[in-house]
Amino acid sequence: MVTDIQSYYTSPAGREFTLAAGRFAGINPASTVLDIGCGYGDGSCTIASEFRCKVTAIDESADNIDFAKKLSVERGVSHLITFMHKDANAVAFGGASFELILAEGGVLSSISRKDGLAKAAEWLESRGRLAFSDLIFLSSTAPHEVKKVFDDDAYHYESEESYRKLIDDAGFSIQFLSLVPQSGWDNYYAHMAKRLEDNKGFFADPKVKLAFHREIDVFYRLEGFRYVGFLFCIARKKN
Ligand SMILES: C[S@@+](CC[C@H](N)C(=O)[O-])C[C@H]1O[C@@H](n2cnc3c(N)ncnc32)[C@H](O)[C@@H]1O
Repeated sequence: MVTDIQSYYTSPAGREFTLAAGRFAGINPASTVLDIGCGYGDGSCTIASEFRCKVTAIDESADNIDFAKKLSVERGVSHLITFMHKDANAVAFGGASFELILAEGGVLSSISRKDGLAKAAEWLESRGRLAFSDLIFLSSTAPHEVKKVFDDDAYHYESEESYRKLIDDAGFSIQFLSLVPQSGWDNYYAHMAKRLEDNKGFFADPKVKLAFHREIDVFYRLEGFRYVGFLFCIARKKN
């Protein structure tokens, strides 16, 4: 069921998960939050709007940063967010600066989970929180069609068990971990379906349209939802 038709998240974990991360981390107006791979900026705007904290939002896509800046103006939080058009692999913050890092929507898989977790540990204050969401495989027997559409050959997705080990090895203790409910996927694909009507930008590309139509088809019609899940985790840096 679609529960958030206004969403600008481009991932199945949306607003409620960002808010949960802020509450777990005790975010307040004196807090500093980093949003890695901010996309269209819904996560950054949500956390800034709810907690009035300072946010640094990074994305390697100039188009996404432009969109996110406009969204922050619409939501009345542009003065709270510093946007950076940067590759997270090439950015330095001079040590531990943030109370909370958001890495929503599979960005850890894009930048390499091990490296992303290590960077998060470096950039977080002692006992700071990392909140991330990422695709996992629920079964090792997923059909070829499902593996192909989510590009398992490139990303080599984790299972919940192997992700738990990565988190622990990176020096975090898990405080909350769950799979995003079906409504999260429905909100995500409802947003994607709207964007597939775009005539300019990323979603105007026929190849992108075809890829997303295939993914939606495989997820619902071929019951891909039985084999993939979106893991949401709030973890605390151990020291
Ligand atoms: C699936 S989107 C998720 C966006 C947003 N966090 C959300 O949940 O709606 C992933 C985003 O990560 C960005 N990204 C991927 N690799 C990145 C990198 N190395 N550095 C910065 N951003 C990156 C992409 O440009 C994209 O906007």
